[in-house]
Amino acid sequence: MQLLEERIRKDGLAVNEHIIKVDSFVNHQVDPAFMQEMGKDIASHFSGRGVTKVATVESSGIAPALMVSLAMGLPLILLKKQPSKILNQDLYQTVVTSFTKETNYELTLSKKYISADDHVLLIDDFLANGETATAAIRLIRMSHATIAGLGVLIEKSFQPGREKLNAQGIEVYALARIAKLAENQIEFMP
Ligand code: G4P
Repeated sequence: MQLLEERIRKDGLAVNEHIIKVDSFVNHQVDPAFMQEMGKDIASHFSGRGVTKVATVESSGIAPALMVSLAMGLPLILLKKQPSKILNQDLYQTVVTSFTKETNYELTLSKKYISADDHVLLIDDFLANGETATAAIRLIRMSHATIAGLGVLIEKSFQPGREKLNAQGIEVYALARIAKLAENQIEFMP
């Protein structure tokens, strides 16, 4: 999406070769009108595929996922992060390891909200190592629902997320694909 690349060039900040900050319009301050345009683009890419629900992992995925679900006229499911295991028969649970944050947490989903009849579109702001998305897919598949794909705003293509997801048969649709980062330098995929 040309508009997102332009916005990243204007308002994004490449901190170093690993991290880009988009705090001014994606995940600290949010630009709702721009988020809605991005949501419409992802919704239109996945339209006609029989999606029944949109899902995301809290918290930065919520803004884009809400816009996608609004554009598709579908419910949004928030996969919740919990610090420790709470034994509960009404929940699906799986452990996620974040390499970036060096933490483990439990991702949870109520059995009430996704069932075997669902075809779920997963949305997030960033795709980096793909650990979060892999855990979300594992969790959703516990309900025997199927996965329509993963839509993200920004993919860091120099990290292995896309390959990891493609290897599990998951299509990845990214609005902007970053090939390389360096301090104050951002290169997109051609
Ligand atoms: P993964 O999400 O693809 O598995 O990669 P990783 O474990 O490396 O990412 C951990 C968290 O850091 C994720 O947020 C991810 O969105 C975020 N992240 C990864 N790379 C960048 C980056 O370059 N810039 C920014 N701003 N964030 C990045 P999270 O743990 O799910 O937290 P939340 O923000 O959704 O609460």
